[in-house]
This record gives sequence, structure tokens and C-alpha cells, in this order.
Amino acid sequence: MSTLEVVLHIFFLISAARASFSSEPSDRQLLDKVLDLPGKSFNVSFASYSGYVTTNKESGRALFYWFFEAVEDPSSKPLVLWLNGGPGCSSVAFGLAEEIGPFHVEKDGKSLYLNPYSWNEVANLLFLDSPVGVGFSYSNTSSDLLSNGDKRTAVENLEFLLQWFDRFPQYKESDFYITGESYAGHYVPQLSQAIVRHNQKTGEKIINLKGFMVGNALTDDFHDHLGRFEFLWSVGMISDQTFKRLNIVCDFQSFIHSSELCEKVQDIAEEEIGDIDLYSIFTPPCTANYSGSNHLRSGKRKFGILGRAYDPCTEEHSTIYFNLPEVQRALHVHDKSPSFKWETCSDLVYDNWKDSPRSVLKVYSELLHSGLRIWIFSGDTDAVIPVASTRYSIDSLKLPTVSQWRAWYDDGQKGFVKVDLDYSLSVLQVGGWTQEYKGLTFVTVRGAGHEVPLHKPKLALTLFKSFLSGKSMPKLDLHSDS
Ligand SMILES: *[C@@H]1O[C@H](CO)[C@@H](O)[C@H](O)[C@H]1NC(C)=O
Ligand SMILES: *[C@@H]1O[C@H](CO)[C@@H](O)[C@H](O)[C@H]1NC(C)=O
Ligand SMILES: *[C@@H]1O[C@H](CO)[C@@H](O)[C@H](O)[C@H]1NC(C)=O
Repeated sequence: MSTLEVVLHIFFLISAARASFSSEPSDRQLLDKVLDLPGKSFNVSFASYSGYVTTNKESGRALFYWFFEAVEDPSSKPLVLWLNGGPGCSSVAFGLAEEIGPFHVEKDGKSLYLNPYSWNEVANLLFLDSPVGVGFSYSNTSSDLLSNGDKRTAVENLEFLLQWFDRFPQYKESDFYITGESYAGHYVPQLSQAIVRHNQKTGEKIINLKGFMVGNALTDDFHDHLGRFEFLWSVGMISDQTFKRLNIVCDFQSFIHSSELCEKVQDIAEEEIGDIDLYSIFTPPCTANYSGSNHLRSGKRKFGILGRAYDPCTEEHSTIYFNLPEVQRALHVHDKSPSFKWETCSDLVYDNWKDSPRSVLKVYSELLHSGLRIWIFSGDTDAVIPVASTRYSIDSLKLPTVSQWRAWYDDGQKGFVKVDLDYSLSVLQVGGWTQEYKGLTFVTVRGAGHEVPLHKPKLALTLFKSFLSGKSMPKLDLHSDS
């Protein structure tokens, strides 16, 4: 430690001791400030905070969060919550450490590097491990890990937010958005609904929710199955017979609680598909000795950042890093039993998941009239919740079209032609396609898998900027480059 660090550390200890006797929010914040993160060999302009919010005192349930200020001028930027799915997967493991967060983990599992396309370029970012049993979130009543479900998750995520805003009151007035992917296709609209109803009930806008955005999101089991089977068949990954059987046996099944017969047919499908990464069908799977899982969780696979060597095994690096005792200390992780092992996804949580409604489209129907900005995006090389699934779900809402289906272009996403000063015409690539409905915008991201920001970090940041500004996705403008 340098002298300055020692001084800061002493100051921190004194403040921390003081904070435990005081309910001053700034002191409470200081306790959570991440001071010295192992493996971070670079300096950043923004602070981060991590710790717990108790969501149920009787059982001793506490949810773990990690919050990152925006790179510049946090007070003027919106606040965005990111949730991963599973159910059972950690937002720290996926959202933060390999998708939209500023710090990603190197191959050695010990050092960090800075993600140039982090969403905290334009927003304050809050990652939440939810519910208990996920990541560092825990309960002192161990049976709680066997009784998680959608309803309690929404209730406790709301409770988390109410208390978090008390701890960070400077963000109470900020525009607040919720984002997430995969099974968070349930969590995000459900939490949004809980907030809207809470605000209505109390007659105050306690949480300044402005909108939400979900990607490759589980939305409606029937349509999600229909689109999934169609995608698997049309890409040519399964046989005609299996396609037919899946449609007969599985289409009215629950996505995460399927029948034995349906699972048998799915096994046959898996056999036909072979060893590929269903979350990103055109990229190689991680072949290291690692037991991922192929549920809705963000399982095995992984992709590097633009300009970095391709690495499908990112999840393994995080598993090493977040199990380091010094990392857990730096993040104020609750003292666990010595046998505790941090996992990217918890099988225990997944296997014991209780209520999971077959559709959240009714929640959409309610929220479409609440004035929220609602965006849905989809990476088009995902075979778990493919574009087709999401299109069927959106179509079933029967919303009027405001702006027709069209391609969108990422500014500066130049093609392979090197453009020098003499040529003003750059080659802009299609980033994906978009259609705007009354109350809902749909965006596809070309060449991205289940975790869009992992595969296409630059396109994902463009998408996020458009969402936050409430503007349509960029168009091809031949005159803008002169
Ligand atoms: C980070 O900042 C500290 C204090 O200003 C400085 O001593 C150190 O050299 C910086 N590290 C890097 C990698 O720039
Ligand atoms: C869980 O139990 C430990 C040990 O008694 C205690 O320190 C901690 O505060 C409890 N957590 C919650 C959320 O009540
Ligand atoms: C793979 O991992 C398992 C469980 O950690 C271990 O028992 C096994 O020896 C490993 N196999 C190889 C080839 O490393």
C-alpha cells in the first residue's frame, strides 16, 4: 500500500466505524465503497459500491449488488438496473463481468481489463444478484433457496430498490430504467409492474421508473417454443421428424417445467444438434473442462471483446476470480461457510424454482398503457430464445405499427474496406433490423447470440444509447459522412 492508500484506508475504517452508529446515507454508502479491487492495474474516473440490502429480516434474506457510477458526471446520467436470468444466474457473472459492465476478467482469472463498450459510458449501472442463492446473495434460512419463484423475486427486488434508494438518495430523482436478458424477460416486466403499482398505491413516484428493455427474453412459453423449434429446423439443426414431434409434444409445455415426454424429445433434438453452443450457434463452444448447462441460464459459451482474441470460456475466468478470498473481501461479501463456492449459475435455485407463469404478455398489456418506454431486442444467432420466438410474442400483442420494419446501421461500424481521406463513402454495415410499434420498439442485433453485448458490444452500446434517448435506431445516411 502507498502512503496515500494507507491514509485513505484509515480514513475509511474510521468512517466505517462511525457509519455503523449513524444512519446518514453518505456514511452508509462509504461502507459499501469498493476501495481496492484485486487485479485492477488501471485507474478509472468512476467509483463503485458493493454490498447487501436485507430484503427480509425474519428469514435473514439479503441481496448483493454492485453499483458503478457513470464514467462522467453521474448526477446528470440515468440510473439503470441490469438483471440476468437463469433462473439462478448472477448479474455480476454475466451482465457485469462479460457483457455491459466496465470490468471484465482476463484469462488468468486474476486480473481485470476495462471494457471500452461498458454501458456506464452513458449511465449509472446497478447489477443485482437476485433472488437469494444467486451469486453472493444469500438467506440465513437455507430452505429459502428451495422456495424461490417469480412472485417473491418481484416483491424482494422492489424491496431491494426502495432500500437502495434510501442508501443512495442522490439517485432518487434520476431517470430510472430496468434492463436484462433471458429469464429476466420475466423479472424485468414483473418488477416494472410492481414499481408502477407501488407508485400508484402510495400516490408518489418513489421510484422514477421511465422504461425497461429486455433481450432474448423469455416472454411467452407457447410462442417461445414455437419460434425456437422453427428456428432450429430452418437453420437445419434438427430433422423433420424431430421438428414435428417437438411441435406436438412440447409446444404447450412450460419452458422451465417441461414434461418428461417433452424432455425426451428435447434429448433427441440435442443429440441431432451435436456439440454446438446453442446460445450462439455460429461460434465455437468452450471446450475446456467445464460443466455448463443448457437451460435458460446463460450457460457455457462466451465471446471476447472486439479486438481481443476470441474466448468462449469467459465464464470460467469469472469463476476463478470471484472465488478469490481477497476479491470477496474487497466486495464486502458476507462471511460464508468455508464450503461456499461462488457459481455463475446456481443449479439449486434453477432446479427448485416454483411459480413461473407461462406468459408475461398480460404484464405487457398492463404496462403498455403506463407511459413507460418499452424496448425488446434480440440477437439473431441465439437458438434458445431466437428472434422468431420474440416476433411471435410481439405479434400476439397486436400493436399498431408506427414505423415499418427496416435495417439499422451503426455509425462508424465500418466494413472491411479501409477508408482513407480520399474516400468519404464509408461502408456502413447493417447492425440489425427494427420495427416500432405503438408503445414498444423491437430491435434485432445481427450476428449476436443470447448475450447480445457479449458478442456485439459496440452494436449493443449503440442500441442502449438509442433506448436511453428514446430515438429510433440509426438509419443509413449517405450524406452524413461528407
Ligand atoms: C493510478 O493513480 C495513482 C495515484 O494517482 C498513481 O500513483 C498510479 O501510478 C496510477 N496507476 C496507473 C496504472 O496509472
Ligand atoms: C445472517 O446471519 C449472520 C450471522 O448470525 C448475521 O451476521 C447476518 O446479519 C444475517 N443476515 C441477515 C440478512 O439477517
Ligand atoms: C474435469 O473436472 C472434474 C470436476 O472438477 C474433475 O474431476 C476431472 O478430473 C476433470 N477432468 C480433466 C480431464 O481435467
